[in-house]
Amino acid sequence: MILIKLGGSIISDKRRYKKFRSDVVRNLANYIPKKDVILVHGGGSYGHILAHKYKIRDGFEEWKRIGFAKIAKDMMDLNRMILRILLKKDIPAVAVPPHSFHIMGDEFDSEIFKELLSHGMVPLTYGDVILHRRNGIDICSGDYLMMHLAEQFRPSKTIFVTDVDGIYDRDPENPDARLIKILKRDFSPETSVKVKDVTGGMKYKIEIMRNIARYSRVYVINGYHPERLKAVLNDEKFIGTVIK
Ligand code: IPE
Repeated sequence: MILIKLGGSIISDKRRYKKFRSDVVRNLANYIPKKDVILVHGGGSYGHILAHKYKIRDGFEEWKRIGFAKIAKDMMDLNRMILRILLKKDIPAVAVPPHSFHIMGDEFDSEIFKELLSHGMVPLTYGDVILHRRNGIDICSGDYLMMHLAEQFRPSKTIFVTDVDGIYDRDPENPDARLIKILKRDFSPETSVKVKDVTGGMKYKIEIMRNIARYSRVYVINGYHPERLKAVLNDEKFIGTVIK
């Protein structure tokens, strides 16, 4: 089984509210397997901008209701556009919206994923707004979903498709930054991110990836080069980072 996350910064322009990069998703979809795969996508500008405005991570207050509902709807809009592209490529993707199957604080129930996979379908889930047992509301990041899905399904490969070539030893915008080709689980590179990210930025993402590497081989590749996805899937040489 293969687990793939399409990061929010590659499928959308993170700085412009609801700006979808359909061409990028279309190009990647050419190489996405038609079965034995779970797909996760991020929120990008469909999630983070309003999540920040409505302070969703700080818990429930009455004025946030409409924000929560708007984000749930915006994420479904994004999900639907991705679904449409995948179905056109004959990938039997089925949406699994986190806000309707999971509550933060409860045990993560992966039954629906298991059943969809056993019927040869491709579950497509995503970072979302979510109810929270203690705080009322929260964000469920795509990375959180990746962590739980990797733990439950032990995929042979876990692939993070991002907007940079892989993990760098410092901020990728720094001219001295160098791509780390192989990252051992116990190494912690000093990194930072360019845009505000309500789900914790690069440090948190790397922490999650290192965790997942306990169950699976983890790859980080650049989605602007879709052939790299193909190369990773076929065990060919590729530009990117592998965490093991
Ligand atoms: C965020 O999901 C979802 C919302 C803010 C609603 P992610 O944290 O997985 O999204 P990206 O990949 O960083 O954009």
